[in-house]
Amino acid sequence: MRALTEPFKIKMVEPLRVTTEEYREEALRKAGYNPFLLRSDDVFIDLLTDSGTGAMSDRQWGGIMMGDESYAGARSWEHLQRVAQDLTGMQYVLPTHQGRAAERILYSIIGGPGKVFISNTHFDTTRANIEYTGAQAFDIVCPEAADVESYSPFKGNIDLNKLVQLIEQHGAKSIAAVIMTVTNNSSGGQPVCMENMKAVRAICDQYGIMMVIDGCRIAENSYFVHHREEGYQSKSYLDIAREMLNLGDAFIMSAKKDGLVNMGGLLTVKDEALSVKCTNLLIISEGFTTYGGLSGRDMEALAIGLTEVFDQDYLHYRIRSTTYLGEKLRDKGVPVVWPIGGHAVYIDAAKLYAHVPVDEYPGQALVIDLYLKGGIRCVEVGSVMFGKYDEQGKLIPAANELVRMAIPRRVYTQSHIDYVIDVFDDILEIKNRNKGFRITYEPPFLRHFTAHFEPIN
Ligand code: F0G
Repeated sequence: MRALTEPFKIKMVEPLRVTTEEYREEALRKAGYNPFLLRSDDVFIDLLTDSGTGAMSDRQWGGIMMGDESYAGARSWEHLQRVAQDLTGMQYVLPTHQGRAAERILYSIIGGPGKVFISNTHFDTTRANIEYTGAQAFDIVCPEAADVESYSPFKGNIDLNKLVQLIEQHGAKSIAAVIMTVTNNSSGGQPVCMENMKAVRAICDQYGIMMVIDGCRIAENSYFVHHREEGYQSKSYLDIAREMLNLGDAFIMSAKKDGLVNMGGLLTVKDEALSVKCTNLLIISEGFTTYGGLSGRDMEALAIGLTEVFDQDYLHYRIRSTTYLGEKLRDKGVPVVWPIGGHAVYIDAAKLYAHVPVDEYPGQALVIDLYLKGGIRCVEVGSVMFGKYDEQGKLIPAANELVRMAIPRRVYTQSHIDYVIDVFDDILEIKNRNKGFRITYEPPFLRHFTAHFEPIN
């Protein structure tokens, strides 16, 4: 096979600063060993997130200059509305400043005490927005996902048997919605197949339950459906996305991912009465209906990004480059979630740092070593992020102890990725020196963003 090449040329560059290991050791200490509290100037390769970190194209930057900043009825709004309606098949489109604003609007309307949400896996802000209303959120990813390292084409799917069980157990009336996250971010960036989505639609119809698609990585998901699901090889990525989104009653999108923009979000719904309730909240908290939380230029860039993201060459490069990193790490003996997902490589830190007990956070240990050795920033997706405490204050660990290396879109080149792969030689050599971490400060919600840690010696 030929070397993977980026299907773009670079027209503008942003310098990266090279630092020493001693410097990074001090930076970590100052940041309370939390990568979210590091200065980005002190990071060499930033794989913290693929959210809002992508590079826009020349066409998008051109669109920025053409943005219509009118308060009401702006051209850029009409452009975005057209693109969003065409993609989702949903008539009512609400622009928000990012994904969680769309979540807050929708879930505060349909949630509340006594309500239950069921998902393949709720993303952390999704769960937080739901629980904040007093509702409960249940994750029921398919059983194949439990076997982290074995191949299965659609490990992001929901468990259909458990879905029916949960509905029967709680009663259809108390189920606020079934939320399908595509790709399934917190479960390894794994895709969801059309068959699973259609089955969820049928169950929701049977019980009269709303189906929401959290589709911030819908284009990446479409790539996997095209290449792995029978009957989709002759359909375009855009048509596959259309078919999938059309199955939902509502669509939530953090446009910072497959919208190919640095800020933005969307909420689209089919039902008029629901759209009116959402619109009222939008106006109170985000902005008027034709801009929401966005400026005209943001909407213009998003309308263009939502079209570009379905480009065949772009999507092939995108998925192949993430897979390249994952395959090379696996070849070195690093345990990774398999197959490799769309936007990130997930490393099984419980296995790689097996000498660190779960309540001393093996994922955090790997995150810290990667920064120390290579200036690489990534994020723990394990018991720091999802752990809870029982009544005695003992940690209830997360299902897995993963570390996510998310790849910003169109930002790093093949040689940056090769550098990351090289740094793992050091990690394999030094990992046993790291004894894990204890938390010295944590807030009540979403603790991973602001917690402080200290190393255990
Ligand atoms: N849903 C999913 C599946 C997400 O991955 C995210 C964000 C959101 C909702 C919330 O969107 O950030 O625009 O408010 N994920 C980012 C990440 C933060 O790093 O995975 P937002």
